[in-house]
Amino acid sequence: MEFSTKTAAPESIKVDCLAIGVFEDKGLTATGRRLNRATGGALQAAVASGDMKGKRGSMLVLRSLRGVGCARIALVGLGKTTEFGDKAFAEAVTNTVRGCGAGVATLAFAASDWKVLDRSESWAARALVAAARASRFRSDELKSKASSAEREVGRPLRVIWLAQKRDRELERALRQGQAIANGVEFAKRLGNLPANVCTPDYLASQARALAREWRLNVQVLDRSRIAALRMGSFLSVTRGSDQPPRFIVLRYQGAGGRGFARPIALVGKGITFDSGGISLKPGAQMDEMKFDMCGAAAVLGTMRAIAELKPRINVVGIVPACENLPSGKATKPGDIVTSMSGQTIEILNTDAEGRLILCDALTYAQRFHPDAIIDIATLTGACVVALGNVHSGLFSKDDALAAELLAAGKAAGDSVWRMPLDDDYQEQLKTNFADMANIGTPGNGGAITAACFLSRFAKDQHWAHLDIAGTAYRGGSAKGATGRPVPLLTEFLLSRAA
Ligand code: BES
Ligand code: MN
Ligand code: ZN
Repeated sequence: MEFSTKTAAPESIKVDCLAIGVFEDKGLTATGRRLNRATGGALQAAVASGDMKGKRGSMLVLRSLRGVGCARIALVGLGKTTEFGDKAFAEAVTNTVRGCGAGVATLAFAASDWKVLDRSESWAARALVAAARASRFRSDELKSKASSAEREVGRPLRVIWLAQKRDRELERALRQGQAIANGVEFAKRLGNLPANVCTPDYLASQARALAREWRLNVQVLDRSRIAALRMGSFLSVTRGSDQPPRFIVLRYQGAGGRGFARPIALVGKGITFDSGGISLKPGAQMDEMKFDMCGAAAVLGTMRAIAELKPRINVVGIVPACENLPSGKATKPGDIVTSMSGQTIEILNTDAEGRLILCDALTYAQRFHPDAIIDIATLTGACVVALGNVHSGLFSKDDALAAELLAAGKAAGDSVWRMPLDDDYQEQLKTNFADMANIGTPGNGGAITAACFLSRFAKDQHWAHLDIAGTAYRGGSAKGATGRPVPLLTEFLLSRAA
């Protein structure tokens, strides 16, 4: 899919389809009224006849109109102007892309008059790219028949933003939107791949491929190097699996090399399959635990977006990757391990494995003297109970960093909700036998105690934790990875660089 801006007059633009919004309360937009005059009243006739009332989700394609250069005009229902927010805009774009017809290879949007509540035109341009790309995305590479992705290569859709005047801002917004969509799709693909394909070593090979294509620095540590670093907590999770663990470090240096400009460290949970280990999960929906590497996928996807946009900032992406499986060699409830930090952990539940791999990665991240550390993890079912699939959970004691992440989430349409992290919750991690237990009291603020556990490995750091268990993927008939929070993280890094 290609995106560009054009300033041509809407009457003369030669495209297969031109999308015009119709509001339920205000009728045709300015461009719509202009085209109505050019076509001798064809658009208003469609509205007056009742065929197009502007209802959200409705669409009417008019063909063979006189007085215009385009082959079709799609009238797209936008609902009420006072309710035309982020979601309605994305829906309208999706409807247009899906409904404009198989014969359409060039699609122009007069979206500059689809005024979205509290949003700028550049925001809309970015959202246009996100929605258009998402509506064509498929994960069908493992289906045996020729895929729709291949068909699209034969006939890529060209999307044109019809602007009033030449605008650098808009062009930049389209560029950013595409880089973010590339990152999102990279993350979705990895998330959707099954665990027998997407192994820890596969994640490492994908990181290497990114590094090659985008001139990033990459390092992949194998079991012996991980052991030499004394990551006893990480290694305890991988014990039951026959797949070797990988510790991936990917660096982007956009603000010069060593010495100045401390990097932002992104740490992503890379459990390529979470069976629970000896604390085995129940069978229902266990397949969804292939998505337990979505934090890792988000880190790699964000690195891809950043490498393409080249902001002046340094970023290091860190991914501990392994499987969590039961076996005769697996870690058992009650086992005590020593983390890289030296702190000991009593593993009371082997299903609380995300924190066990992240804690060593957080310790490792500190060797880069980062300006901030953000970890991203499908960490707890409790976070899904608390926030559902709307907001990711944000945990941080650092008010400034939390505010930045909240703002980035709002701007990117990839929201987070701040959760508490008071020391009172730390009590739950006390045990008689080690420095801490890996779980708190069952049914008692589990998302928060998980964050409290991690905080013990990020002392004196500007650190934030994102629990994406509810937002990284969807179940049911729309099963699939969402690519979140790549948009939020990219936005955060871009505004840090600005
Ligand atoms: N990967 C899961 C968390 C999860 C659950 C993600 C549901 C997405 C959907 C994590 O490793 C886990 O199993 N957490 C346990 C922790 C508990 C044992 C303290 C949980 O949430 O049940
Ligand atoms: Mn688990
Ligand atoms: Zn897990």
